Amino acid sequence: MANSSSGGVQHFIPVAGYLFSDLKKKTMQMNKRLIHFVNNIVNDHKQVFDPDNLDDYIDVFLNEMNTNTKDTVALSEENLLRTLVQLFIAGSETTVTTLRWCFLYMIANPDIQSRVQDEIDSVVGRNSLPRVGDKLPFTEATIMEVQRIASIVPVGVPHVAAADTTLRGYLIPKGTVIISNLLAIHHNQDSWYEPEKFEPERFLDSKGDMFYRNEYVPFSIGRRACLGENLAKMELFVYFTHLLHQFSFKKPEESPPITFESTLGATNAPLPFELIVTKR
Ligand code: HEM
Repeated sequence: MANSSSGGVQHFIPVAGYLFSDLKKKTMQMNKRLIHFVNNIVNDHKQVFDPDNLDDYIDVFLNEMNTNTKDTVALSEENLLRTLVQLFIAGSETTVTTLRWCFLYMIANPDIQSRVQDEIDSVVGRNSLPRVGDKLPFTEATIMEVQRIASIVPVGVPHVAAADTTLRGYLIPKGTVIISNLLAIHHNQDSWYEPEKFEPERFLDSKGDMFYRNEYVPFSIGRRACLGENLAKMELFVYFTHLLHQFSFKKPEESPPITFESTLGATNAPLPFELIVTKR
């Protein structure tokens, strides 16, 4: 992720890609390793494949490959491996990086951490763990605020206009590459009051209920928006609430001052930081 820059110069001046050919080579090598990794998993599935017991995506794909003779291009083994790698890349790094930002913001804002823990304790209790579906508006607003302020996927995946299009008087010719600047949307002063401030309340109404805003687009919008949005939201909710239910996090006194600087690749990741984890 760190190797593949987002919104980098090569998006706009493709010839610049040659200047970064080492990086490209490294990324291609990593891709090969990932293909090898998922290939082993596919081979394991093939050995125990049973068309009457389709367990997961790989089983269903293999079954379609065996039975659907019309769509041989989409249902090729190469496509199976590539889509698996894409799901793996798109699904793991994004969620983990979001959680790293969550805990950085918790050690930077101990008062907010305590409010999240109080809400979890009062709704869930100390004797059971939080579950998807528990109503925890302040906690959810905190996760949303992390996703807004850190904008983990700063620019969307590049798309191409399928037809000539006019948008607010601008002609976008067919074939134009379009890159959405999600980070700019999340930090637009016309939409957000003091956008650089970490403030979960901006997602709560006067009754304390959580609400969505059109300008909140961490998963992008439209038909090609994030395919894993619902899964990601569940994962973030479960990991964040379980960890805060069981532990408290704080900055070690002797560690360097907290910084919100990031390394900008395809994802916007925090710099490494230390924290102390204490069992509650
Ligand atoms: C917090 C976690 C995540 C964030 C912030 C995130 C964000 C995004 C964004 C901004 C896009 C680009 C959409 C566009 O260009 O219009 C995207 C695409 C995508 N995401 Fe996620 N994502 C997350 C987790 C996941 C997970 C868990 C999966 C799957 C397991 C996933 C699978 C995908 C796929 C397959 C695409 C490409 C969709 C397409 O081109 O049609 N993502 N994601």
